[in-house]
Amino acid sequence: MTQTSGTHRGILLAGGRGTRLHPLTATVSKQLVAVYDKPMIYYSLTTLMLAGINEIVIVSSPHDLPRFQVLLGDGNRWGLELAYAEQPEPRGIAEALIIGEKFVENRPVMLALGDNVVYGRFDFLRKAIDGAGDHATVFAYHVDDPTAYGVVEFDQSGAVISIEEKPAQPRSRWAVPGMYVYPPGVAAEARALEPSARGELEITDLNRRYLERSALRALPMGRGVAWFDTGTAQELLEASNFIEAIQSRQGLVVGSPEEVAFQMGFISHDEFAALVDALPACRYRDYLERVIVETR
Ligand code: G1P
Repeated sequence: MTQTSGTHRGILLAGGRGTRLHPLTATVSKQLVAVYDKPMIYYSLTTLMLAGINEIVIVSSPHDLPRFQVLLGDGNRWGLELAYAEQPEPRGIAEALIIGEKFVENRPVMLALGDNVVYGRFDFLRKAIDGAGDHATVFAYHVDDPTAYGVVEFDQSGAVISIEEKPAQPRSRWAVPGMYVYPPGVAAEARALEPSARGELEITDLNRRYLERSALRALPMGRGVAWFDTGTAQELLEASNFIEAIQSRQGLVVGSPEEVAFQMGFISHDEFAALVDALPACRYRDYLERVIVETR
């Protein structure tokens, strides 16, 4: 019972060397490291799924890509079509759009970074996708200290006024999370970029190209959403603690591809039950078994 979003395809970038998390990442890709009780990539994968996207290409290094394939497979059991593509060197987030071009086939695309964790209401994603038109969309998340992120300034209508990468003197407190929605043709735009001083095709430079022709909008994610970039050990722990607190209090699991696939109608109740039947005995399985009974 696969039901596609019909419009957007997804690119999930699980790249980078994860050097900031060394030695945690000496032998394992950052996006496979745990955020509380699941591999980090489960959160961004389910974010794409909750946006209604079920055709997704995973982009990662030649070294790490096989591990993601083992973990996620072809996605069929979750009602997904997953493809895999190599990023030979970590040459920037915008390069993922060039690498994913063949897979995206001139469709609009949502790019998600595999080290971002989002929790809460996801209506902002649907809003971005439904109203995208020819615009590129970035999201805006209010943070106390935006200097470690892309920073966006925008007017009441959501039209972007400025966007800067990790500015020392930010013009706003609105950070740009690692999720972006682009119209067809974005790969050509990314190809026109010059590498930055650190040798990368910067996502902020790409977004600035759209801004220069008044085709970049910012959508605030709202206060009811939690966003974490798990770039440092402290942020990783904060994200883990947050997920643990929510899950323990609610008795609901965040970021389960099995449950989200069922919720989104990508798989039927019977398919969901069969899937859970194949899981080893663990708390994750106990939880999903309860969901199966409660949704019967
Ligand atoms: C990247 C982007 C930045 C964005 C951030 C979100 O930064 O360059 O604009 O705010 O992701 O996670 P990085 O974390 O790669 O330094």
